[in-house]
Amino acid sequence: MRKAIQNSSLISPLLSVAPMIDWTDRHCRYFHRQLSPNALVYTEMITTGAILHGDLDKLLGFSECEHPIALQLGGSEPADLAKSAKIGEDWGYNEINLNCGCPSERVQKGSFGACLMREPDLVADCIKAMQDAISIPVTVKCRIGIDDSEDYPFLETFVEKISATNCNKFIIHARKAWLKGLSPKENREIPPLRYDIAAQIKKTHPNLTIILNGGINSLDQIDTILNEFDGIMIGREAYQNPWFLAQMDHKLFGTPLPDPFEIVAKMGGYISERQKNAAMPIHSTTRHMLGLFSGLRGAKKWRQTLGGEAHAATSAQSLFDTALQQLQMHYHNT
Ligand SMILES: Cc1cc2nc3c(=O)[nH]c(=O)nc-3n(C[C@H](O)[C@H](O)[C@H](O)COP(=O)(O)O)c2cc1C
Repeated sequence: MRKAIQNSSLISPLLSVAPMIDWTDRHCRYFHRQLSPNALVYTEMITTGAILHGDLDKLLGFSECEHPIALQLGGSEPADLAKSAKIGEDWGYNEINLNCGCPSERVQKGSFGACLMREPDLVADCIKAMQDAISIPVTVKCRIGIDDSEDYPFLETFVEKISATNCNKFIIHARKAWLKGLSPKENREIPPLRYDIAAQIKKTHPNLTIILNGGINSLDQIDTILNEFDGIMIGREAYQNPWFLAQMDHKLFGTPLPDPFEIVAKMGGYISERQKNAAMPIHSTTRHMLGLFSGLRGAKKWRQTLGGEAHAATSAQSLFDTALQQLQMHYHNT
């Protein structure tokens, strides 16, 4: 087990990459770290049941360079959450986050995720139990409301009850979750974005750290958002257009933009290194890199080659060489 190498209180709230099930696994986070040295990266949501009974190496393992890194938990039993948070702290995570925003039916059946927004007292108990068990920050990711909840008062009650525990960081996905009738994907698209409601929380509670999430996909939005919020969490845009992450890090922290070809080389090294220790399909890492050249001429060829040939490829290096050749041929020919 590893100990935290980074003082959690020094982590910047400005930029984070959202927890995304099936997307933000350790390989994806390693890749994102090459693009953004400063973003706080989140794991996919991991349930307390999985942590308490599952294969911890597989569920919680990460590379040192992924710091700063937050573990997102799914659960609603204070004792289980406390045990899971402690395990996360011992593994070296820098923050523990409770998912109060996922609307999937499976999660609702387990009575956690977004439906927890209806039970702020229980969430406060969960947060307290975790705070008592660990010394790294415990934070919450939520929606602005669920179903037909009133617009602002519902969110305010939720935030006030939870912040009374001394939890002072909330990541707000600024749309409601509709728990009946919409798929999780639709629940990220159909309920309208209401940044104004999240902003009102920050205005009324200036001491809380409020991170805005939902629909952020352009550098032009950033200054306006940061006038009202402490930071920005990006999800789909970071995954589908990873270069956006590099641009965000550059804008927010002044980091020089990286060389995408060096990143590809680094990822080649990462894959071969990991393959020395375990049988790992090349595809499990390259699938996260399909969008690296989004917007460039030749990007489609890169994506097609990387996506189409990864299963048959014998080495990551030769796969990357072929995909880069395709990219460059199209870059010059069109
Ligand atoms: C494939 C996928 C999986 C997701 N899984 C999670 C999750 O595990 N936990 C969570 O809190 N949110 C999850 N989300 C929601 C995102 O964290 C984020 O709140 C949402 O996508 C809105 O941000 P965006 O518009 O920047 O993508 C997921 C989103 C996607 C696209």
